[in-house]
Amino acid sequence: MPQTPTILVFDSGLGGLTVFREIVKLRPGARYVYVADDAYFPYGQHSEDEIIARVVPLIGELIGRHAPDLVVIACNTASTLVMAHLRATYGVPFVGTVPAIKPACAASKTRRVSVLGTRGTVKREYTRKLIADFAQGCDVTLVGAEHLASLAEAVLRGETISDAAIAAEIAPCFLDGTARTDTVVLACTHYPLLLDRLTALAPWRVDWIDPAPAIARRVGELLGPPHGSGSLPPSEFILTSGQRPSPVLSRALDGFFPARAVA
Ligand code: DGL
Repeated sequence: MPQTPTILVFDSGLGGLTVFREIVKLRPGARYVYVADDAYFPYGQHSEDEIIARVVPLIGELIGRHAPDLVVIACNTASTLVMAHLRATYGVPFVGTVPAIKPACAASKTRRVSVLGTRGTVKREYTRKLIADFAQGCDVTLVGAEHLASLAEAVLRGETISDAAIAAEIAPCFLDGTARTDTVVLACTHYPLLLDRLTALAPWRVDWIDPAPAIARRVGELLGPPHGSGSLPPSEFILTSGQRPSPVLSRALDGFFPARAVA
């Protein structure tokens, strides 16, 4: 790895910023390129074939343009489909983001866990296999949220979103009866953007499992020990629509790109 590695972080939209911020915390000295495929957002509404046909060549173009040393697919909806295709096609190391079912089931005391993801992610064969392999006897409920990623984007863009709209999306996660759900996997990188709202609107206290710190640690392992040049190289934030972020979004982005020039 070079002294200042270039890390490309990719998502369908702004949700990957929740993974990005953990990686930046761990490796502040890397050069970052964040790409939001807003021209094709939300991925949760596209078919599996459409996502593969969109993401695999797009990542190839981005590798050609930015020459990253490592690529993070900070999107469950894409990672649960495209990782094998990407690894077979390009020689760059990849880190994906998939539902954190194993640690959630290991931590649940009531043995009742919900997986909150996009409609695409909860339908995936990949996700079903994670449950088959790692549920460890837990009762796992898959909850496909239709609008929650878009609501999270809207909040970050400064729009007012009602509590009722968010509560309706998360309500199916909460099961009561012989055992109560005590753990919810945030299986979409957009959802940690709403963590305060999710916590406030939950009908009872649960642990929300956000895999971002674990993903950042995996990135750190692949990069090897940091060289610590002390400088903060400028980062790029790219929307595939070609639009410039609005002033409200620019201010929100400042919270994720602390003390860095953003092109
Ligand atoms: N951030 C993406 C994920 O982790 C999904 C949002 C979308 O539907 O595009 O699944």
